[in-house]
Amino acid sequence: MRLSASFGAAMASTLAVCGLHMKGRGSLSKCLQKVDTFLHRTIGTNVVAVKEEREGCKSLYGVQAERQEQAERSVLISCHSRTNEKNFLKYLSRHGDINKYFFYESYGMYAVVEFANRESLASLLEEAAIPSTSHESMVPFKSRLLTLRNLGSADVPNQQSGQQCQPQTTIPINELIQRLAREETIEQQITSLTDVYQLTEENSRLRFLVCSLLKDIAAAYFPECTINPFGSSVNGFGKLGCDLDMFLDVDDISGRNAKMPKSGLWLEYQMKRASSERAVTQSLLSVIGDCVDQFGPGCVGVQKILNARCPLVRFAHQPSGFQCDLTANNRVAMKSTELLYLYGELDPRVRHLVFTVRCWARAHGITSSIPGAWITNFSLTVMVLFFLQRRSPPIIPTLDHLRDLADPRDKSVIEGNDCTFVSDFSKIQLLSNTETLEKLLCEFFEFYSTFAFNRMSISIRKGKEQNKPEVAPLHIQNPFETSLNVSKNVNATQLDRFVALCQESSWLLQQSDTNTPRGGNAEKATTPWGLATLLMPSQVAGIKGRKKRRREPASERIKSLLESLKNTNQHKKS
Ligand code: GTP
Ligand code: MG
Repeated sequence: MRLSASFGAAMASTLAVCGLHMKGRGSLSKCLQKVDTFLHRTIGTNVVAVKEEREGCKSLYGVQAERQEQAERSVLISCHSRTNEKNFLKYLSRHGDINKYFFYESYGMYAVVEFANRESLASLLEEAAIPSTSHESMVPFKSRLLTLRNLGSADVPNQQSGQQCQPQTTIPINELIQRLAREETIEQQITSLTDVYQLTEENSRLRFLVCSLLKDIAAAYFPECTINPFGSSVNGFGKLGCDLDMFLDVDDISGRNAKMPKSGLWLEYQMKRASSERAVTQSLLSVIGDCVDQFGPGCVGVQKILNARCPLVRFAHQPSGFQCDLTANNRVAMKSTELLYLYGELDPRVRHLVFTVRCWARAHGITSSIPGAWITNFSLTVMVLFFLQRRSPPIIPTLDHLRDLADPRDKSVIEGNDCTFVSDFSKIQLLSNTETLEKLLCEFFEFYSTFAFNRMSISIRKGKEQNKPEVAPLHIQNPFETSLNVSKNVNATQLDRFVALCQESSWLLQQSDTNTPRGGNAEKATTPWGLATLLMPSQVAGIKGRKKRRREPASERIKSLLESLKNTNQHKKS
């Protein structure tokens, strides 16, 4: 969710030094293994094999339930970087078996520890003390964020500490370009980019744990509430370091859908009335926002942005390094998340292409963490999905088709909008499209280089261009609230930049200078080529007006940029 400019900068510094390493024992969850299998499967395998794998795929709700349950058995512990791992585990194991644990760095060392049973967690919390300081007072709110103190003699340094630390945030773009330059095919470059950028198992666990910690705060008022992540934290397109969008759900509290008897007596709760659903959401978020601000350990910079179209509370969760957006009554966004997740699971090419296009767009300032007239990651993802629906044969089905496959139990109407689509992945039959990722990337740029943005709207519901219903430079139909345009913030200048970059990137990918691997020649091995070239900074942003440039040669600037890179490289080697 992006609504305020000031917060990004404040969080950037917090996020910059995060590192994560894992020392877990026990296998990764079965579900994630499946996602992984999908991801690494080669492209163009036969449709039957794809279908078989898909049958074992878990729905987003299945994944969420599993993760949520793990998170509820977990604690987050701040510990000294010299903490001895063996002593640490021995100390904690007194309370019961540990299923999994890992350490990470975020302005200090933290450990996520998942116990096998909730009783162990309760026992551990029972033993924990309230800190006492002479010069400060404490808000006595007990949470599962703890600090490990050591009053004894100096601990034996953890020999492994630091060695296994892996960065939690993504590698800088320059490093990525160098890494991609060493790959042998564009296909490999694309899969390598996804590998580097996607959320790790540990990062996903941490996201659910933060939601669970937040839930403990909200539960003081609404014991039956849930807080679930949505957006890129769970839709399969999340990049390390992306924000944590959370959905506070108080709709599922028991009694809401209880059937009234036709006759006789019954009791109902007396409840305060509000003028609208929006007013309820605002007051709920306002109170929870205050609690987070006043009582939430590690939650800083709390901003209540209650007048936005989608009211939210924004804050930084320092121990995890996440920028958090807490929303409520946001069921349509939850459905969008579920839909994006489903599309990402259908064919591995979906995730690879989305990651690549998102990264490319960010490298060129097409998207930004600051709110404005930019294309958002969500819009960009919908554009990739639409493009994949337009292939011949289509790689993914339309949303209308997914609705037609739905069971009665899939029926979902939210605020009058039909959000129904199939939840059983095995019912979805894919057509046999075997296009390579390289081809698809080229075609994506070509497709949007020539798309009639002035007349047409993008609709993944229909999988076909629709006449634009309103004047807006870029019109992308909201998949569920179909009268809305998800890209209505985008101005003509930003759309022009996108189109110009698509043209330039398409052209570059067709040049032998760009698309020939440098592998095999040590001297040239780190000269950017293929996808690496496309991620290099460009000045296309300066293009004015809406003049279309079709199949023009790349700008002189890009040519000279390529030359200068070659020269720099030769200098380095000499
Ligand atoms: P990043 O945070 O940029 O990595 O991607 P994201 O997909 O999480 O986007 P964002 O945080 O902006 O939004 C979170 C989720 O809210 C998205 O995944 C969508 O499900 C939903 N969303 C965002 N923008 C819109 C919009 O304009 N319309 C609708 N209907 N949903 C949106
Ligand atoms: Mg997000």
